[in-house]
Amino acid sequence: MSVPMSAPGGAGIVVSLPDAAAQHAWGGRLAAALAGRPGVIYLQGELGVGKTTLVRGLLHALGHRGPVRSPTYTLIEPYETLTPPVWHLDLYRLGDAGELEYLGLADLLDGRSLLLIEWPERGAGALPAADLRVQLDYAGNGRRLTLTAAPAWQAVLTALAAGTRC
Ligand SMILES: Nc1ncnc2c1ncn2[C@@H]1O[C@H](COP(=O)(O)OP(=O)(O)OP(=O)(O)O)[C@@H](O)[C@H]1O
Ligand SMILES: [Mg+2]
Repeated sequence: MSVPMSAPGGAGIVVSLPDAAAQHAWGGRLAAALAGRPGVIYLQGELGVGKTTLVRGLLHALGHRGPVRSPTYTLIEPYETLTPPVWHLDLYRLGDAGELEYLGLADLLDGRSLLLIEWPERGAGALPAADLRVQLDYAGNGRRLTLTAAPAWQAVLTALAAGTRC
C-alpha cells in the first residue's frame, strides 16, 4: 500500500486514504507502530468519517477474529484477550461526562490497556489525556488523517512515517 505522508515540522503527520480498504489497512499499520503500547487514542471527526473502520483494522491486526461492532449504544466494547487488552469506546450518545464513571473507566486506566475513544469531545473533562490524537476529515471521496502525539508517543509517529515498528 502506498500512503502519502508528510511530517510538517515534526509536529504531526498527515495521511491520505482513498477508500475504506486503505483506512482498514492503515489501522493495521498503526497497530504495528504501537508495538504493544498501552495508552489512550482519541479518534475525532464527523459522523461517518471512518473512525470505526480504522479501529477495525487495528483490532484485526492485533489478532481479533470476528466482528467489530460499533459501540454506539453500548458505549464500550471489550477486547480483553488481545495484547494489550483493548477497550473501544464510542461516546456519541453519552448523556454527560459523569456517566463515564458507570462504564468503569477508572478501572481501565491501569497502565496495561489500550483505549480507543471515538467522540472523546463528549467526555471532555472526565477522560484521560490522549497519548495520540487521530483527526479524520473528509477529503473528496477519501479521508485525510492528521495525527499528533504526546511527547512520550512521538516514537509512534516516527514509526508510522517510516513504516516500521519502533
Ligand atoms: N478512507 C476512506 N475513504 C472512503 N470511505 C471510507 C474511508 N474510511 C471509511 N470509509 C467509509 O465510511 C463509512 C463510515 O465509516 P465508519 O463507520 O468507520 O465511520 P465512523 O467515523 O466510525 O462513524 P460514526 O461517527 O457514526 O461512529 C463506511 O461506509 C466506510 O466504509
Ligand atoms: Mg464509529
